[in-house]
Amino acid sequence: MTAPTPVLTATDLRVSYAAREVVHGLSFAIAEGETLALVGESGSGKSTTAHALLGLLPEGGRVEGGRVRLGDLDISGWSDRAFRGIRGSEIGLVPQDPTTSLDPVRPVGVQVAEVLRLHGHRDRRSRNARVLELLDRVGLDDPDLRARQYPHELSGGMRQRVLIAAAIALSPRLLIADEPTSALDATVQRRVLDLLDELQREDGTSILLVTHDLGVAADRAARIAVLKDGRIVEQGPSAQVLAEPEDPYTRQLLADAPAFTTGFRRPDAPPFLRDAAAVAAEKPYEIVAAGLVKEFRVAGRERFRAVDDVSFRVRRGTTHALVGESGSG
Ligand SMILES: Nc1ncnc2c1ncn2[C@@H]1O[C@H](COP(=O)(O)OP(=O)(O)O)[C@@H](O)[C@H]1O
Ligand SMILES: [Mg+2]
Repeated sequence: MTAPTPVLTATDLRVSYAAREVVHGLSFAIAEGETLALVGESGSGKSTTAHALLGLLPEGGRVEGGRVRLGDLDISGWSDRAFRGIRGSEIGLVPQDPTTSLDPVRPVGVQVAEVLRLHGHRDRRSRNARVLELLDRVGLDDPDLRARQYPHELSGGMRQRVLIAAAIALSPRLLIADEPTSALDATVQRRVLDLLDELQREDGTSILLVTHDLGVAADRAARIAVLKDGRIVEQGPSAQVLAEPEDPYTRQLLADAPAFTTGFRRPDAPPFLRDAAAVAAEKPYEIVAAGLVKEFRVAGRERFRAVDDVSFRVRRGTTHALVGESGSG
């Protein structure tokens, strides 16, 4: 059996600004219904990559080489006009800054309706009904009122929800979210990310999540690609990238990630937990248990298997928690 075609495939993508190349040959693929996190520090080329995929590079920006495929469709080198046909409908963008991404002098409902209008939803009444549906879908209370309000009347989190409503209005197969929560505080950030998770679960949308925060990436994405100076230094399943980072830069990111331990995040984690993942990544294994099995003879019955194929490794000088309810072995 062949694997299903990824929703998006970038191959050796190169992008430059005024002849200075800043993205040097990225290759990655996003499967259907999957979240891929593109992680890297500021200036590493995340937004440039995201904009290149959407045909939205600013003045002076140019795709120098490589291929981008949307499903089976090769969209490399497409004109702006051609991109307009798929932007929103096939690939939706959730922008970074909810404040500057909305027009301050138009009610937010009108701005969401605009997306529908541009893509051929001609009937005003059904368009407006759809806007209310979308605002409700993204968790805004009282959609009727919200639709009539101006951006400044909404909180940052509410504005980001409006932008998500606009991004999903045409049910795109892929959402590109460029640091969608970096302008929001921690609690609102979590709720907005929860919303994206939920939309993904319900609609099967794929997401390219662009973030500088490795913790967010680990929480939200099945796979991570680590970007440094316009190159992917490492990519793979999140759990693997975090537990066994291969590249020194990934280890550095891990050490720098606030309040972060492998697969589990607690904003209030004490410092020894915060640094555990980074410290652990440096140490050799002291205990390696592989395929551990323990059976007990129970009189008059079949042997009882209390431990069945348990494997784990403990690095020197670290604390490994073995968690389970009473009787679990
Ligand atoms: N409009 C632009 N014109 C010229 N250079 C740019 C422009 N936008 C970004 N760059 C440069 O491209 C590189 C990558 O930037 P960017 O993609 O914005 O990184 P990130 O999103 O990871 O912070 C940086 O060196 C940045 O200075
Ligand atoms: Mg950016």
